[in-house]
Amino acid sequence: MTKFLFVTDLDNTFVGLREEDDKALEELSKYLQEHQKYGTKIVYATGRSPTLYQELKESKKLLKPDALVLAVGTEIYLDGSNKPDSEWAKKLSDGWNRDVVVEIARDFSKLEPQQESEQRPFKVSFFIEEEAAITVIPQLDSEFRRRGLTVKLIYSGGEDLDIIPHDSDKGQAVQFLRQKWQFLPEQTVVCGDSGNDIALFAAGTWGIIVGNARSELLQWHQENVFDYHYRAKRYCAGGILEGLKHFGFL
Ligand code: GLC
Ligand code: MG
Repeated sequence: MTKFLFVTDLDNTFVGLREEDDKALEELSKYLQEHQKYGTKIVYATGRSPTLYQELKESKKLLKPDALVLAVGTEIYLDGSNKPDSEWAKKLSDGWNRDVVVEIARDFSKLEPQQESEQRPFKVSFFIEEEAAITVIPQLDSEFRRRGLTVKLIYSGGEDLDIIPHDSDKGQAVQFLRQKWQFLPEQTVVCGDSGNDIALFAAGTWGIIVGNARSELLQWHQENVFDYHYRAKRYCAGGILEGLKHFGFL
């Protein structure tokens, strides 16, 4: 069994809403658990905070990962630790001023703050409808630039807007782990369905886009064609199984 680094988004990628998705997840988890014994590492890369991750972990009985990338790549938790990696946090704190981000965003009335648990040290999150997002996001972006802030705006699933430090996202967090664990891009597979996963796919590793992927990821995929990305037919975990077989990892 060849070891590899398996990185997956959770909502609507590893975990779906249908009974069929639960069955596929069970099958996929069995394979992954077996591979884990031979050095394969499992990473969940999600937009969720620790609070919401915990909820999902319990309701879906998720396999124990080797690391967690939470809050859209702004927090990394290694080997079951409940403290975010301090090296990563230090890297992100350079040039990040959360209070100013919040203050600037307050002037944009179409932005509706997400629940308190999702507001994190390096992540400020809102809801905004797709139609409004088209105009508001560029305006917000130029206001941040005008004020000299280098932040990143990530829009996902036609409703979530995350504002995070410029040097962070799921892709950069995974690169940090790849270097730590010494996995090459060709030994790494990432899986996702929406906007906050684009950074995962942009990092030059193998990638599986699940069959139920959202329009923002599909559009990016159309504009960035690489033969190391596989567009699965099946949804969620079923699509991951399909892609891992396609690449020869299973
Ligand atoms: C998760 C998080 C939310 C974030 C979204 C997209 O749903 O809970 O805060 O905006 O992912 O990244
Ligand atoms: Mg998702």
